[in-house]
Amino acid sequence: MNGMTRVVLSLGGSILFPSLEAHTLRTWAPVLTRVAGCVELFVVVGGGGEARRYIQAARDTGADEAFCDEVGILVTRLNAALLIGALMNAAYPRVALTPGEAMEYSGRGKIVVMGGVTPAQTTDAVAAVLAERAGADLLVNLTSVDGIYTADPKKDKKARRFSRMPPQQLLEIVSGCGLEAGSNTVVDMVAAKVVQRSSIPLLVLDGRDPELLEAALFSTGDAGTMVIGEGKNPLPLQKTHLP
Ligand code: UTP
Repeated sequence: MNGMTRVVLSLGGSILFPSLEAHTLRTWAPVLTRVAGCVELFVVVGGGGEARRYIQAARDTGADEAFCDEVGILVTRLNAALLIGALMNAAYPRVALTPGEAMEYSGRGKIVVMGGVTPAQTTDAVAAVLAERAGADLLVNLTSVDGIYTADPKKDKKARRFSRMPPQQLLEIVSGCGLEAGSNTVVDMVAAKVVQRSSIPLLVLDGRDPELLEAALFSTGDAGTMVIGEGKNPLPLQKTHLP
């Protein structure tokens, strides 16, 4: 690769669009722009509530599930376009349709933004595959919980957050084989498999406060859950300025 530190963010639609308004986008745009001044940044945007509403409407027409997924993908790409608009000159001006296209748009000092790609997965999987293609130093899943827990913290008061875990444990949790079955796993199975095979560190981080991201990337703090092999730690990320 080109010596740049590369980071892929999976930004859930429910984080970026709690409602279809510009307010949250406007708070995320300067944070992402600052991060992109330090590392090469890719952002994969989710569908959120809007995708769920469109998917339900498609389902109600009698469409099959794969078609409903295609509808969901279109919404993630619409959301990606809105983020590009908010990022203005900091973003490459087109939504990348595949990880390959995202790689084509990279290396120009711009944030590369994409949505979904193919049915039967979520944008977590897209982000993991993109991280693998990009040889990313870190994949970050920004979500509405502050990490991966031993049990669902809403139901179990004794639930505690893992500050780190090996990729194999994440796979076990996601496939329901681990002790933690039923807990909120926050990533899909494809993403968990790609994280394991690629050994790319995955940080599951609370996305409800955009300011947390910079602190988490560029300090040794203990925010969220780091999914990573024994003895490794990518943080703090090395700042490599773009040409
Ligand atoms: P999301 O990745 O947003 O799923 O894709 P989500 O789990 O609802 O995540 P949040 O709420 O944004 O955090 C929305 C839908 O689009 C389809 C799926 O139907 C998914 O549920 N999709 C998305 C795909 O089929 N393939 C993709 O690559 C991405």
